[in-house]
Amino acid sequence: MNVGDRHYRTIWPSDDGRSVEIIDQRWLPHDFRIEKIDTVAGIATAIRDMWVRGAPLIGVTAAYGVAMQMADDPSDAALDAVWATLHETRPTAINLRWALNEMQRFLLTLPLAERAAAAYRRAGEIADEDVGLNRAIGAHGLEIIKAIAARKQPGEPVNILTHCNAGWLATVDYGTATAPIYLATEAGIPVHVYVDETRPRNQGAQLTAWEMAGHGVPHTLIVDNAGGHLMQRGQIDMVVVGTDRTTADGDVCNKIGTYLKALAADDNDVPFYVALPSPTIDWTVGDGLAEIPIEQRSPDEVSLVWGKTASGEIAQVRVSPEATPAANPAFDVTPARLVTGLITERGVATASREGLRAMFPERG
Ligand code: MRU
Repeated sequence: MNVGDRHYRTIWPSDDGRSVEIIDQRWLPHDFRIEKIDTVAGIATAIRDMWVRGAPLIGVTAAYGVAMQMADDPSDAALDAVWATLHETRPTAINLRWALNEMQRFLLTLPLAERAAAAYRRAGEIADEDVGLNRAIGAHGLEIIKAIAARKQPGEPVNILTHCNAGWLATVDYGTATAPIYLATEAGIPVHVYVDETRPRNQGAQLTAWEMAGHGVPHTLIVDNAGGHLMQRGQIDMVVVGTDRTTADGDVCNKIGTYLKALAADDNDVPFYVALPSPTIDWTVGDGLAEIPIEQRSPDEVSLVWGKTASGEIAQVRVSPEATPAANPAFDVTPARLVTGLITERGVATASREGLRAMFPERG
């Protein structure tokens, strides 16, 4: 998507044929910085410390990490080692494992001398595929927005609640949950987005809000606790969120707080949609609550908050007493029964084993 009048993806290969450049998301919305990364260690740090984040983007970044490893040492042992190093950086988003498996499966079929070049090529293809998947999600989600708009007065906006950032910054381009919003805006359908701030890391306040502002989408930032209240007052027409891992039974693991939004939506008959590319489906898992590892991030993310001071400095402040311990589970699981539909690249599936199998019959 555009930053100013220039089109960017979140990650792209540098001209030197080895490194990648990324938008360093730690500084947004205050500062737009690009970082060049040329080592596996650098890729691991960028994923773990959330210079890049969002399930699809983590997967693509890891694929480029594998390519860097192949440029240094294309052996099977090195491939196993980079798989393990990058896999442990963030445990919940399944796209990471998907991309690592995909790179490994592909590279193992090739002679050592061909692996480095092929790995960069395949990582680039995975990045391009992500863009295509998101465009397709956008087209299917657009139909949902159109149907809601048709039931409203002409010119009255469709009010959409989002949580976390499942926008273009969480992917290579377009985003998952935001792709239908961008396409609706392009189609001239009035939308208004309520952006959950999404504590503790504030991906909504910092990233989704920045995206919406950058593309002229009318939006309002709300605290995480306001969503239920707005739904009770009829101010939300639909919720659309992303996901870091959706199970074969349709349970949805996503940023902490998603479950509470789904409960409130259910209580108020507000449709609750989840937008996801198929690499986010973990076909090996059925019961999300029992089987998905939930990343426990640093308590500092709860106790300390980043922001811009009046003097323009980007700084961290403490919001709780020094002596107060904090816990920071980064994701939760929304049971399939609370999900109205899964917006995939192939269409909108019901959140169930049958619904997903009907959409992806090749999964058996
Ligand atoms: O911890 P993050 O910022 O990497 O969280 C991931 C997310 O952005 C969300 O959970 C998102 O809604 C799913 S990824 C499209």
